[in-house]
Order: sequence, then structure tokens, then C-alpha cells
Amino acid sequence: MAIIAPDVAIDLGTANTRIYVRHKGIVLDEPTLMAFKGGKKRTPVAIGEDARLLLGRTKGDLTTVQPLKNGLIDDYDTAEYLLEYLMRKAIGSSRLVRPRGFITVPSNLSAVDRKVITGAATSAGIRKGALHLIEKPFAAALGTGLPVFDPIGSMVVDIGGGTTEAAVISLGGIVISRSIPVGGDAMNEAIINYCNREHNIQIGPAVAEKIKLDLGSALPSGDKRSVFVRSGDSLSRLSYQNVEITTDAVYEALKEPCQQILAAAQYVLERTPPELAGDVMRSGIHLTGGGALLYGMERFFATELDMPVLLAKEPLACSVLGIGHLSENIDLLQSMITSQSVRIG
Ligand SMILES: Nc1ncnc2c1ncn2[C@@H]1O[C@H](COP(=O)(O)OP(=O)(O)OP(=O)(O)O)[C@@H](O)[C@H]1O
Ligand SMILES: [Mg+2]
Repeated sequence: MAIIAPDVAIDLGTANTRIYVRHKGIVLDEPTLMAFKGGKKRTPVAIGEDARLLLGRTKGDLTTVQPLKNGLIDDYDTAEYLLEYLMRKAIGSSRLVRPRGFITVPSNLSAVDRKVITGAATSAGIRKGALHLIEKPFAAALGTGLPVFDPIGSMVVDIGGGTTEAAVISLGGIVISRSIPVGGDAMNEAIINYCNREHNIQIGPAVAEKIKLDLGSALPSGDKRSVFVRSGDSLSRLSYQNVEITTDAVYEALKEPCQQILAAAQYVLERTPPELAGDVMRSGIHLTGGGALLYGMERFFATELDMPVLLAKEPLACSVLGIGHLSENIDLLQSMITSQSVRIG
């Protein structure tokens, strides 16, 4: 008798991939990263968390590749390999009938990018004709418990690693959305550029990430702290021969990406039909995604927009919980506006 693999829901993020298996919950949460050895004929040496441990320590012919950029597949072969590996890790490989799959995608995905993700997902093991692409803000809103199927407006701003998706959702569909290629990665780049411009030092993304997590803020901080950096991949609290980076400097560096993220939310608010805008004003904007964890992000939004803003309970897990919920309640797909769930068959 053929064994049917359990449905899998995959939040394929620029920074992290999370997999929810039906009846089990979240079984995997790993960086969307792969490490290779060799030049042209590269061979994979590590995937996910194992590859992250090599990041910044890659020497000689070791390189790490982030197969997604700004929410879209940028390196097809790597993305396919990573998806297949992580799916096998999540559900095993001894199944005869391939699983049904739910995968998050940026809103307003082009036909070409839709084909690319569909190709990668089916080659990686999702059953043909049983793949549902769910737009990220819808998944995030559902996962944070917003009443997305009700006749009221709910607003979510999902600040991920590669993209920010702002959307108003009602009656099982996205009413208006804005997707911009600005998120946690752009914040890291802003810190790298600041160090280069102001101090003439080159730091890598791993150090920029540490600086962001340690000192980053969307608002001027009363807490004056600093770290010392030098060119390359080191970070220290000792001043000897190092350049001092302060909380104020990091705030200045992060101002631009934070403003761009805010502008995406403003764009959506300005275009929200008045009957739904009232609901959003009352229930507030819900912030999800890892970027929403930047210190002060909630207060920055609330102050600039003069309305309630709430940080989701599990900002990093919202999207996978949302598609996981769909995998547990397949009937809900019928309540979704078709463009939100494109079944590829
Ligand atoms: N405490 C924190 N402060 C600031 N940024 C954070 C914090 N925790 C995580 N992040 C950032 O969140 C980002 C990852 O978030 P998330 O996992 O939601 O992204 P993703 O889903 O992989 O990306 P995307 O949805 O854009 O494709 C990273 O850029 C990370 O640096
Ligand atoms: Mg995401």
C-alpha cells in the first residue's frame, strides 16, 4: 500500500526556512543558507544551521550561498537542493506518494517567478498538482491570529530578511499590498555602508548582523553603548586599534531602511478603502517577521502613524504557523480569494 507523505508547509524565507508538518507542528527552522567547497565544480558541504556555523569562517575554497534574494529564488540549483534536503529532514524520504505542499511567496509574484518556485518545489519533492503558493502577508496575518476571513480589514507589516510586505486583508484575500526589497539584510547593508563611509573600514554581513542585534534601534536610544570593530569579521569591546560604533551611529545608519519600511505601510494605508481603514485604525497594525524585533520598531511606527501598532506574539514563526494552519484546515482554501492560493496543476 502506498504511504502518503504528510502535508508540508514551508515558509521559504530569504534568511530562514521553516517547515510545518501537518499534525506535528513546526519541525524545522534553519537559515536559508548553503556552504560549498571548490570552484566551478562546487560540492555542497553544509546546509542550513550547519552552513551558518561556517559563515564568516569560510576560508580557502569554502563559500556560503544564500539562494534567495529579496524573497525570490536567485540561485535555482542551490534553492532546489536546499529545499529537497530540508524537506527530507522534515518528513523523511521513504514515502511512495509525494506530499502536498504550501509555500509562502512574496505578494504580486510575477509569472516567471511563480514558475521558478513551482519548478524548484516540485523537483524538491512536492507532488505535482498539489502545490499551493500562499502570499506572505496573508500567511503572516493568519498565523498571528487575525480574522482574515471576516468582512473586516486587518493590516499586517511583515518585515523579513529580504523583503517587507505590508498588506490589508479582508474576506480571505489581500485587498491592497506593497512589497519592497528592504528588510533585515538591507539594515545590515546600511551598517556596512556606514562603517565604510564614516570610518573607512570593511565589515562583513555577519559582523553587521551582530551590531544590529546588539545596538540597533528604530528610535534614538537613551541607552548609550558601543562596540569596537575592525576591518574583517571581528567584533570586540576593547578599544585597542579598533573603531568605536555607538548606538547613535547605528540608529543613524538604520534610519533609511526604517523610513522605507514605514513608507510601505503608509502606501497601503493611503490606498485602503475607507470602510476597511476604520477597522485598521481601531485594531491597529500588526508587525511580524524578524525585522519587527528591531528595538523600538513598534514605537517608531505608532509615533509616525499615530495609530495602534502591535508586535505579533511570535514574529518569526507567524508565516509558517499561518500556512501550517491552512494545511490542517484544507477547507479554508475554498474561502480564500483565488489569487491568494494558486494551485499549480
Ligand atoms: N532582535 C532582532 N532585531 C533586529 N532584527 C532581527 C532580530 N531578530 C531577527 N532579526 C532579523 O530578522 C531577519 C529574519 O527575519 P525572518 O526570519 O522573518 O526573515 P525571512 O522570512 O527569512 O525573510 P523574507 O520573509 O524577507 O524572505 C534577519 O534579517 C534578522 O537579522
Ligand atoms: Mg518571511
